[in-house]
Amino acid sequence: MKKILILPGDGIGQEVTNECLKVINFFKKNHKIEHSEDLFGGASIDANGEPLTRDVLDKALEADAVLLGAVGGPKWENLEHNLKPEKGLLTLRKELEAYANLRPGKVFPALIDASTLKKNIVEGTDIFVVRELTGGIYFGEPRYIKKIGEKRVGSNNLIYNEDEIARVARKAFDIARLRNNKVTSLDKANVLEVMQLWRDVVSEIHQNEYKDVELEHLYIDNAAMQVIKRPSTFDVILAGNLFGDIISDEIAELTGSLGMLPSASIGDKHGIYEPVHGSAPDIAGQNIANPIAAILSLGMLFKYSLDLPEVHDLIEKSVSLTLDSGFRTKDIGTENTLTCSEMGDEILKNIDKLS
Ligand code: IPM
Ligand code: MG
Repeated sequence: MKKILILPGDGIGQEVTNECLKVINFFKKNHKIEHSEDLFGGASIDANGEPLTRDVLDKALEADAVLLGAVGGPKWENLEHNLKPEKGLLTLRKELEAYANLRPGKVFPALIDASTLKKNIVEGTDIFVVRELTGGIYFGEPRYIKKIGEKRVGSNNLIYNEDEIARVARKAFDIARLRNNKVTSLDKANVLEVMQLWRDVVSEIHQNEYKDVELEHLYIDNAAMQVIKRPSTFDVILAGNLFGDIISDEIAELTGSLGMLPSASIGDKHGIYEPVHGSAPDIAGQNIANPIAAILSLGMLFKYSLDLPEVHDLIEKSVSLTLDSGFRTKDIGTENTLTCSEMGDEILKNIDKLS
């Protein structure tokens, strides 16, 4: 029996994971899967005073995969750093050793006009970001805001050891082999020592183990330009935690479909799956959110954690078919738009039809 732990979290997290639940229940008919649901993020702060309780963390460690909705919202924004909903997310990633964050950024042909970039530039764009997720400046010690003499000083540390770089680089190269065989690694080796190490280690891994894959190095500032100039020439993009965070939002926007983008955070044992969009408090509770990113994240869960790539492919095809039939949610269309739950139903109908 495979266990899925669902953590809807905050804002539209609940609505979009509800639609995933319909899909999970469908596949229960033919696969040995079970699920349970728990509190996370702001919802957990309200009930338990902390964003991730020990109990929920233990359940996550025990599960075969975790499906997340979204965390955060204005209600919890002013809490102390360590008690914010986001802290729950960072702890979960760290404790589950989910060191590689996979974020596909693909332009859906049916939605090409939704991009802010010209059609001929974005056409054919299919970028797969592999972001380091449990190290770098997000976790470097010491970290503080403190008074030094008369002045307040804030500090964080951007630190990587070679093993942390090597393991995420291998993930990127492995994924590239299954795609278009190219990795673009982002760094700031012209200024930062730690980024020189990043570049050296990526090159060594390439040289020793993945010579068949094409490797390109770009400085992050240049990369930020190149991805909007020539997005369709990228395949896999490899980056550290902070640069990966930034570039993946840029790529999400250029596809024109933030509400469509899934993500997977994997390590050697555990997997966390979540839509790239946030909790969208402004539209929460209205049943108008786009559940596609969450449903595609569930698709990734089937592929990477439950070893059911055929279910992943079926979910992807059903989403494409639903879009090709003209169905839209409010964020991606203006006419005949569906509610969140109606979109879930349409996708489910297609899953049923195609299976
Ligand atoms: C993301 C988010 C998170 C991050 C926040 C919510 C902590 O921006 O998943 O990209 O910075 O990693
Ligand atoms: Mg981000």
